[in-house]
Amino acid sequence: MSLDLLIRNASLPDGRKGQDIAARDGRIVAIAPAIAAEARETLDARGRLVSPPFVDCHFHLDATLSLGLPRLNLSGTLLEGIALWGELKPLLTHEAVAERALRYCDLAVSRGLLAIRTHVDICDERLLAVEALLQVKKQVAPYLDLQLVAFPQDGYFRSPNAARNLARALDLGVDVVGGIPHFECTMAEGAASVTALCEIAAERGLALDLHCDESDDPLSRHIETLAAEARRLGLGARATASHATSMHSMDNYYVSKLIPLIAESGINVIANPLINITLHGRHDTYPRRRGLTRIAELRAAGVNVALGQDCVMDPWYGLGQADMLDVAHMAVHAAPMTSREAIAWSFAAVTETPARLMGLEGYGLHVGAHADFVLLQAADPIEAVRLRAERLAVVRRGKIIARTPERLTALSLDGRPACLDPADYAPP
Ligand code: FE2
Repeated sequence: MSLDLLIRNASLPDGRKGQDIAARDGRIVAIAPAIAAEARETLDARGRLVSPPFVDCHFHLDATLSLGLPRLNLSGTLLEGIALWGELKPLLTHEAVAERALRYCDLAVSRGLLAIRTHVDICDERLLAVEALLQVKKQVAPYLDLQLVAFPQDGYFRSPNAARNLARALDLGVDVVGGIPHFECTMAEGAASVTALCEIAAERGLALDLHCDESDDPLSRHIETLAAEARRLGLGARATASHATSMHSMDNYYVSKLIPLIAESGINVIANPLINITLHGRHDTYPRRRGLTRIAELRAAGVNVALGQDCVMDPWYGLGQADMLDVAHMAVHAAPMTSREAIAWSFAAVTETPARLMGLEGYGLHVGAHADFVLLQAADPIEAVRLRAERLAVVRRGKIIARTPERLTALSLDGRPACLDPADYAPP
């Protein structure tokens, strides 16, 4: 058997050790110990973790890397971020949006992040960012899967042309219906926007992903309407509530009714821990709320919960580095959820769970899947989260497309420097 790529001696996220992975014509053709075959390229994993690529199911590629344009967010709040984005929008050009997005995609690839669902603001009459990101989507397709969400940032009803522009964006080929019910003028209009947007998704056969209750207001309950409308229209896992931060502040009795409804509806929930814990609780003195949705309780009820990055160096967040292990690491701390099971879950929440949520074809480590991998400088998913491990190699369709040198200071669980080849290590 002649292969394009043979990975030797990999540990897999499901706990299997000593596995070889064989790839031909961009697909996985075998996973087994000691595969006897020739390959154009061989990668020795030396017992380290080989995972399917990282997936970010919630991002804003039209705003990324715009930090400081035209000024900084001084209060650090969501609302000042939205106002600041409103100041920047008229200054955007197609070229600048595409250039920043491409730069971010390069960064993403170097961190093993090979699929991104990005919201794109459709309230600008020119639809300039939509056209720029549709172009970027085509350009990066050989190495990164982009999924676009038509996002009425200024409100589906509140912004005069949003409804028309959302339809225009979908007609141009944007993949997913977006919304922001908590930013509409009234609770009633927020709920009405959820209904209208769910009906558009149902009519067009599209997925739906709403910024839903990104607020500290415990009475922001649009996720209830979303779950009910998804149930009525049979959207199920095609529908997603992003953020859902108000759930952090809700009354426990109400939540005891809400979470079973969410579970029954089959919708997904995306938490964005880096952003949620920095934007929320800003009106509090002490005790100060964290503003992260109820991840553990949603999981316990069987709701599909994924983690997203949301922002990198933009009007809402001045940090970030396209690293989904930063996102998992922050979720573990902020939730908090520190059991071994929950830490391992956080790794799945930035890999296979968002891949399923986005409906990525051919994702995963099984025969027939795309030969897309990340070789991590870690023994297993928990160590990968703890170390935010280096991505030693990133593979797309059977070809190595990025490499990072081993980090010298990382310590593995058994006390040896994780950079050492286990064969070279002599215990003291
Ligand atoms: Fe967002």
